[in-house]
Amino acid sequence: MITRIAQVSDAHLSRGRPFFAANFSRVAEAVRAHKPDLMLATGDLSLDGADSDADLEQAVAQHAAIGREWLCVPGNHDVGDEPLLGGRQPANAERLARWARLAGPSAWVHDIPGWRLIGLDTQSLTVNEAQWAVIERGWRDAGARRVALIQHKPLAEHFVTDTAVNYWPVLPEPRARLLALGRPALVLSGHVHQWRERVADDIAQIWAPSTGFIVGDAWQATLGEKLLGWVEHEFHADGTHHARLRVMDASPLLDIGLMPEVYGRL
Ligand SMILES: [Fe+2]
Ligand SMILES: [Fe+2]
Repeated sequence: MITRIAQVSDAHLSRGRPFFAANFSRVAEAVRAHKPDLMLATGDLSLDGADSDADLEQAVAQHAAIGREWLCVPGNHDVGDEPLLGGRQPANAERLARWARLAGPSAWVHDIPGWRLIGLDTQSLTVNEAQWAVIERGWRDAGARRVALIQHKPLAEHFVTDTAVNYWPVLPEPRARLLALGRPALVLSGHVHQWRERVADDIAQIWAPSTGFIVGDAWQATLGEKLLGWVEHEFHADGTHHARLRVMDASPLLDIGLMPEVYGRL
């Protein structure tokens, strides 16, 4: 028994500023043709859902229009970010409520043969205690299922013992709290806008590329590969898993660093 899952990430869609809509529609077409059993959107569905109902509504509608069963987790552009990072859009009650109203729960549990998927919001782990009850329950009754975490930010840039506090990975403290619940077999994430498939700390970790744009070398170190696309996953009932990158060669490789009209200067 194989469950086929399509992972799309970081579409950054907007009603009024559709810079990345054309690139998304190419991915949407490819995913539709693939007919996955389930689609996962790993955050930053919207350009500015953290402050705009219209952007989040548009982003959710465009993902839903692919027409497959799907689940999503929020990214920093959907709900803001950990207040500790000091950005201009801290995750707060208003932003989390917008996500809940327009996109769904912050955290969820979804079982497929052999596996338990636990979705969570990596931007609000220090301020959104309610999601921990869902994550903890997900671990508690997983039984013999292997656990895959579905989240926006990667667990770590390098190793789970990393101490760096920055914009890219889950913060060290909530990371430790998360791993105290159990060691996942697999973590699927987005956020970095780079493709990377790597096993570290006995955890298979897959970074999905963005469907829309990359962050050029002048603004971001390269840890994986900077390209546009989506990821095909096969989850087997025996607990094995395979991922395959689908590169969108036909899409222009837009660099957000060269597009100050989108988010301003990086
Ligand atoms: Fe993103
Ligand atoms: Fe992000």
